[in-house]
Amino acid sequence: MNNLLLCALGGLVPTLAVTPPNASDHVATARWMAATLTWGALSTTSTRMKGTSIGAPFGNPNSFADVNGVPYLYASLSDASMQDLFVAASAKPRASLALTEASLMDKDGAASLATCRIAACTFCDPENPPCSRLVLSGVISRLNSSEPEAVAAKDAIFQRHPSFKLMPASHAFFVAKLSIDSIWLISAYGGPANIKPSEYFNHTGVSPAPRAHIPAIADSAVEAPPQRPLSRDSHIKTARMMAKTLTWGFLSTTSTDNVGRKVGDAFGNPYSFADVGGQPYLFASDLDSSMKDLFKAAGASTRASIALSEASQPGKKSFLWKQKCQIGTVLGDPENPPCARLVLSGNATKLANGTAEEKAAKAALVARHPAFANLTPDFYVAKLNLEGIWLIDMFGGAQIIAPSDYLAADVA
Ligand SMILES: *[C@@H]1O[C@H](CO)[C@@H](O)[C@H](O)[C@H]1NC(C)=O
Ligand SMILES: *[C@@H]1O[C@H](CO)[C@@H](O)[C@H](O)[C@H]1NC(C)=O
Ligand SMILES: *[C@@H]1O[C@H](CO)[C@@H](O)[C@H](O)[C@H]1NC(C)=O
Repeated sequence: MNNLLLCALGGLVPTLAVTPPNASDHVATARWMAATLTWGALSTTSTRMKGTSIGAPFGNPNSFADVNGVPYLYASLSDASMQDLFVAASAKPRASLALTEASLMDKDGAASLATCRIAACTFCDPENPPCSRLVLSGVISRLNSSEPEAVAAKDAIFQRHPSFKLMPASHAFFVAKLSIDSIWLISAYGGPANIKPSEYFNHTGVSPAPRAHIPAIADSAVEAPPQRPLSRDSHIKTARMMAKTLTWGFLSTTSTDNVGRKVGDAFGNPYSFADVGGQPYLFASDLDSSMKDLFKAAGASTRASIALSEASQPGKKSFLWKQKCQIGTVLGDPENPPCARLVLSGNATKLANGTAEEKAAKAALVARHPAFANLTPDFYVAKLNLEGIWLIDMFGGAQIIAPSDYLAADVA
């Protein structure tokens, strides 16, 4: 019967071979996410002043791979996050790696899992609690490339991110390890699970979803990526288009509690957002860990960043997008510099209910996230007042964009 139905519908039935564990099994869900997903955001405490500020939480989209649950990155000291961890005078090696099931997309750019897919059900959205979000926190260390652990980790990274083999030797890439000491997971309603690292690492029988559900395009079809210099205006336009078309990113705050995380760490949390004229807004509740960090807890700080990645672009993908962001094309990867990463930094505020700005922001949020119309009345609009903008959308380092230039750009 089922088979007949599938045959009859033929190509209309999307093949979603992505089956996460039962979400009430927190440990299995966390391990499945680490084994299945390809990228997330690494949040560090900024040591820099360009497009961010010293001491502010800075999220940065990063590719990763795990070996038995341990996440590894392939990194270079020229990277902003690595400067925060290892290079700057005030560098400290603690960080969090935030992952979301919303990053699993089908070939048409819709979330693979219905719980994460915008408008697939009353509450379906990347911010819907059953669309699982995992934040792994701990110390990042550089591995010596001759150690067996580094060799195994590099193998795992190259399997999940084949284009990394082509990275230039001049950048002296190394394997960085996240030694996890805290695990925060939301996979259902009712607040974060605080998973013991020992249970996470002892878990066996992880079976990651196949990663081949997005077909690779043929190597022969690949053209050279666009070359520098891009005009200043085109960088600014890219930033504005990301704010206009993407649906979720990573909100980074400074943790105020030890529930699955550590006080004082930069804490990344996958978050839905919408913009009005480039200005980003969130729809949030005081029950959320990030909002406690910003507004509610003792020691709360309103400093925050929102990190966006072009890898999360919804909708049918262009040939150019595949070349830039799609794993399986020659250089395509979420960490490929032309696959744009935008980090908006500043101070967050709650908007007073019923003001013109609040109404416009809420309308924009509900238009991009229809599920928000169904949330309880305690949800409010939070605004990130922009102070710094950091963008990588090409080889050759970050663009630092003045918020006034960004907001003034015409992207109609
Ligand atoms: C998931 O696990 C819970 C708790 O063990 C159980 O009550 C529930 O029925 C399970 N859900 C599914 C879809 O199997
Ligand atoms: C890496 O390990 C090798 C072999 O144990 C050792 O000779 C070398 O000094 C180490 N390098 C660093 C940078 O620690
Ligand atoms: C905002 O105002 C609406 C309409 O009066 C009300 O239902 C809602 O609870 C208020 N929200 C907050 C967060 O106070």
